Formats: sequence, structure tokens, C-alpha cells
Amino acid sequence: MRRNSVYIETYGCQMNAADTELMLGILQNQGYEIAKDAKDADVVLLNTCSIRENAEQRIYGRLGNFKAIKTEKPDLVVGILGCMAERLRKDLIEEKKIVDLVVGPDEYRRLPELIDVAFNGEKGIGVKLSRTETYDDIIPYREDGLQAWISVMRGCDKFCTFCVVPFTRGRERSRALDSVVNEVKLLSKRGFKEITMLGQNVNSYLDNGNDFADLLAACAVIDRKIRIRFTTSHPQDLSDKLLYTIAEHKNICNYIHLPVQSGSNRILELMNRTYTIENYLSLINRARKIIPGVSFSTDIISGFPTETYEDHVMTLDIMRKVKYDGAYMFKYSPREGTKSFKMNDDVSEEIKTKRLQEIIQLQQQISYEVNQGLLGKEEIILVEGLSRKSEQFLAGRTDGNKVVIFPFKDNIKEGSYIKVKINRATSATLFGEFAGFAETHNDDFALTA
Ligand code: SAH
Ligand code: SF4
Ligand code: F3S
Repeated sequence: MRRNSVYIETYGCQMNAADTELMLGILQNQGYEIAKDAKDADVVLLNTCSIRENAEQRIYGRLGNFKAIKTEKPDLVVGILGCMAERLRKDLIEEKKIVDLVVGPDEYRRLPELIDVAFNGEKGIGVKLSRTETYDDIIPYREDGLQAWISVMRGCDKFCTFCVVPFTRGRERSRALDSVVNEVKLLSKRGFKEITMLGQNVNSYLDNGNDFADLLAACAVIDRKIRIRFTTSHPQDLSDKLLYTIAEHKNICNYIHLPVQSGSNRILELMNRTYTIENYLSLINRARKIIPGVSFSTDIISGFPTETYEDHVMTLDIMRKVKYDGAYMFKYSPREGTKSFKMNDDVSEEIKTKRLQEIIQLQQQISYEVNQGLLGKEEIILVEGLSRKSEQFLAGRTDGNKVVIFPFKDNIKEGSYIKVKINRATSATLFGEFAGFAETHNDDFALTA
């Protein structure tokens, strides 16, 4: 029997989603078929995340399911890819006996070879990290659609004390500007309308003297009908040059994901975040001056070791000051191998939960208020298709990444840009009426390319 069908299930961040497309590209090149369901595959791979304990627990649960499938189908190859593969390495093979394959983020080129090893009854292991691997020459497997992502740099050198990423993903390295530009051109030909440039730390992109602002500018002029997003920005590397570049190009979204993590300088220092709240706020103000109407989202951790009630209140305070459009909010989770793992995890689960709930509640209130401020205004959106809840409505997104729902019209096609007048808003969604067709972003949009 020819064993040639592979299924990959993806957990974690967008970089993992991009890596899955990369691996599917590699495997398809070797003649593999891509299965839509684990049941139909000869090789089942989990692309995993280690960021918090509960992320790993979920994946262990899923591995249990595959164990059951493997009892019925002993030839099935089951593998762990991604950050858990890197973090747990051989433990996975020795402890969790059902795993035949463990491949970390910098060894995906060897995947076909390592799968063969597994088919031959041995364990396929590839967990070396690289200082240079960027998979520059590999064309990822992508289904047709409107949105695509491109990893433009890999790894992270920041070493925030709570974070596993520098250990699971290794050192920072960037793709060549030309190769990213060529990929954007291919996506343009295929009709994609929104591209997200990815990196744990995209702002520290550097290729031959070209920084991230240069990369964005080079990509923005390729096809003005393509909107460009990027994530994640570390406050330390968000330069004025980058802010001006975002302001200058109408098809670069006026939206910055700028994780703050905590509102307390003492905690920020313990986290090794390299900025103070004062620096952070002045950065936000500068960005708002240079890019009028820019939206911000953030990441927040509650209950970092030694966090007091006062520190927590400072976090609520910074949220009120910035008025984020959205936030990803987490309870601190100690990760073995990181610096903060050696600190006593002294905020009780109960207090972490209580603080997190307060943070979530406050963010909901802020998002609601920010969205109420849009009532009566016209927003330009990229139409994504029918709304999830009803065929009588269409849905799209603003460049600030907000979902907008509006009544269906025959002549509005997926992938077009339209103006919608907002007439109702919740904390999560805007509702409105069609108000005319539009160019990529703004009314004053001018084709400069
Ligand atoms: N590179 C990005 C995001 C990394 S992971 C950045 O620097 O912002 C995404 C988010 O997960 C982080 O911003 C942080 O808020 C959260 N996170 C990372 N490690 C964590 C941990 N040990 N416990 C809880 N949250 C964590
Ligand atoms: Fe982790 Fe900090 Fe790097 Fe983000 S910048 S990936 S939080 S170490
Ligand atoms: Fe998770 Fe690894 Fe991304 S730990 S968040 S999948 S870089």
C-alpha cells in the first residue's frame, strides 16, 4: 500500500498556521495528498504550542484521541511538530509511546525523510534549531481565498522572562526582502486581498540594511488592492520611520498590536520588557499623532510572580489610558526553562482568575465605548462573504480589524472594498448600511504606485 496522505492539525499562533502551510507545501512537493480529516490520513501531525500550560494540556488530550485511532490502524504515523516538539524533544517519544515523529520548527525541510524513518518503524527526530533557516525558497500550500500570511522573520531574541518562544523558536533571523516581495506578487496574481506579515517580533526584521519599514513599503506598492497587516510589534522596535511608513501607504492597515503585558514598571522590569509605562504611553501618543485614527490591541498577563493588588490596578489604569480596541488576556503560566520559572509563582490561582476577570470586563467596556464612538461614521471594509449567522447579511472587516455586518446586496462581491455607515455597535461587532464602493482604504485614496 502506498502511504501518501497527510493531515496536519494546528495549534498556537499565526506563525504556526503559516508553518503548517509551509510543511504542506514541502509534503505536496513530495507527492503527498492533503487529507481534510485525520481519519483519512496515513500520517497525522500536530503542530503544537507551548506558550502556556493549558495549551500543552489540550494537545496531550488530542494525542489521546490519536492513540485510539492508532490501535485500530497500527500503521498510522503520529507526529508532534512545532514548539512542544522543541521543548519536550525525546520525552515525547519516550513517555508518550504513540508518538513516532518529533520535529521542531527549524527542521521542517527534513519532514519527508523523517516520515520515511517512522514508516520504517524507527523514531523520526529532528529538533535542532538553526541560526539561518528561513524557508525562503519554499512555496507554501495555500487554498484560494482573500487572506494570506507570510512569515517574514523567525525566532525571538527578546527573552521576556516568562516566555518560551526564544527557546522553542531560537534566534531571530529574517527572510530576504526580494523573496517576500515575490511571494506578495504571486498572492496578488491569485487574487488575495489581505496579507499579514508575521514574526514574533516583526519590527526587528532586517535584511541587508532593509528594515521592517522598507519591507512594508516594498510590499505595499505591489498591489494597492491588497491590504497589509503585520504582527507582533514589540514596543522597543516600533520606530518613527515605521509609523511614517504606515501613515504614508493607505493600504497598510492603521492597526498596531502592541503588547503591554503589565501596567506596573516594577513588573515590566521583572519581565525584562525593556520599556517603562511612560515610554510606552509616549509611543502610543506619537503613533496617534503620526497615524490619525490608528487602532491598538494588546496582550496582558495577570498574576506574574510578586504582582500586588497595586500592580494590578496599574494594569487597569494603562488600559483606560490607551483605550485599546481589543486585547488578548492571560493568566501567568510558569514555563520550565524560562527565567521567571525560578521565581516563586506566588499569586494564587484564585487571585489570578479574579484579576483576569476584572481585566476582561474592563476591556469589554472599553471596546464597547470605542465602538459607540463609530456610530454615524463611514468605515471602509473588505467584504469577506456571508455573515456567519444569516444569509441575509454580509460581513467584512475594517482596517482596524473590526467585524462589520450589513444587509446582503447582489452586487457586492467578496473581496471588494466598500463603505459602510455604522448604525449599531456591540463590544465585538459593528452593524451598518452599504454607503458606496471604495478603494482599499480611505476616501482620499490615490494610486501612487
Ligand atoms: N511575540 C509576541 C507574542 C508572544 S506570545 C510579543 O512579544 O508580544 C503571545 C502572548 O502570550 C504574549 O504577548 C504574552 O502576553 C502571552 N504569554 C507568553 N508567555 C506566557 C506565559 N508564560 N504565561 C501567560 N501568558 C504568556
Ligand atoms: Fe516572547 Fe517576549 Fe519574544 Fe514576545 S518578545 S516572543 S513575549 S520573548
Ligand atoms: Fe505557541 Fe510557539 Fe506560537 S509557543 S504562540 S506556537 S511561537
